[in-house]
Amino acid sequence: MAKVYDIAVVPGDGTGPEVVREGVKVLDVAARKYGFKLDLRYFDFGGERYLKTGETLADKDIEELRKYRAIYLGAIGHPGVKPGILEKGILLRLRFTLDQYINLRPVKLYPGVDCPLKDKGPEDIDFVVVRENTEGLYAGSGGILKKGTPDEVATQESINTRKGVERCIRYAFECCRRRNRQKKLTLCGKTNVLTFAWDLWERAFQEVAAEYPDITTDYVHVDATTMWFVKNPEWFDVIVTDNLFGDIITDLGAMIQGGMGIAAGGNINPEGVSMFEPIGGSAPKYEGKNVINPLAAICAGGMMLDHIGEEEAAQAIEKAVMQVTAGHIKDLAAGKMGCSTSEVGDLVAGYVGK
Ligand code: IPM
Ligand code: MN
Repeated sequence: MAKVYDIAVVPGDGTGPEVVREGVKVLDVAARKYGFKLDLRYFDFGGERYLKTGETLADKDIEELRKYRAIYLGAIGHPGVKPGILEKGILLRLRFTLDQYINLRPVKLYPGVDCPLKDKGPEDIDFVVVRENTEGLYAGSGGILKKGTPDEVATQESINTRKGVERCIRYAFECCRRRNRQKKLTLCGKTNVLTFAWDLWERAFQEVAAEYPDITTDYVHVDATTMWFVKNPEWFDVIVTDNLFGDIITDLGAMIQGGMGIAAGGNINPEGVSMFEPIGGSAPKYEGKNVINPLAAICAGGMMLDHIGEEEAAQAIEKAVMQVTAGHIKDLAAGKMGCSTSEVGDLVAGYVGK
């Protein structure tokens, strides 16, 4: 009997449904070829539903999602909804309640993709950012006092628990070992200024490092990290960092790998339900035009297969994506690819099925 995986699909807003359609096209071909089955169930969480019902995600929705092996997400974000409502009510809520404590973001320059960095090629840009995904400044600790008065005070605190930091660091060491490349893990922080949070991170990092003698460790301040991403990206193998720093450096990472059209990420709970998404957002101005690049969503689908244990199929998807970037796509940007959204999906699916 073929293995069957129950997958929750949340196409979401804007171009989310278009890129998810191509992702599913590729996943279906991979499943057939590698002998497993994906049982997909679609959910309509997102801006449209919020505008109709006033609901982002109900407790019962989360209980329902807990039953799935993984979640495949398109994009959340709607021009008609005030910023923050959908992000906090859907995306962050899922990350937090499902305890997806790792945000895994590969930064890899594929062949044929234009890199904005001078003299850098695919051999120079291939690293992974392991971003803590449930704590830090995202935890929602803080508040406003005397709002709207001249004496107003706003605080926003970074929460760093020993448990949360340590499990993230340990995951990063494991990821580095599994990649088996430079076997180098870089801690990206701000120990020179944020001396409470980063003291904890640094101590945890050193203690866990003792369990991984095969991995070389390094430390770089977050500001310097952005500099080295541009100047010497080849220095990096795996980077581990907190939630906000990880958010910021992975947008830069996406640009040096060719743009948001190719950047995928996984929100991972190794013991629970994980969620995979293209990180580029809903791009509402391209909605319905068949011009958005689906490769990021396709790569997110590949990451999902890798996560659920279908490594061979995942590798086949990555290889197919590389064949498409190397031979068929002019530019990764929406509208400049030289092919439509659905044509790109067909091309990748074609290579996977070969
Ligand atoms: C990301 C996004 C989210 C984040 C937003 C949409 C809440 O920027 O996934 O990187 O800040 O984490
Ligand atoms: Mn971000």
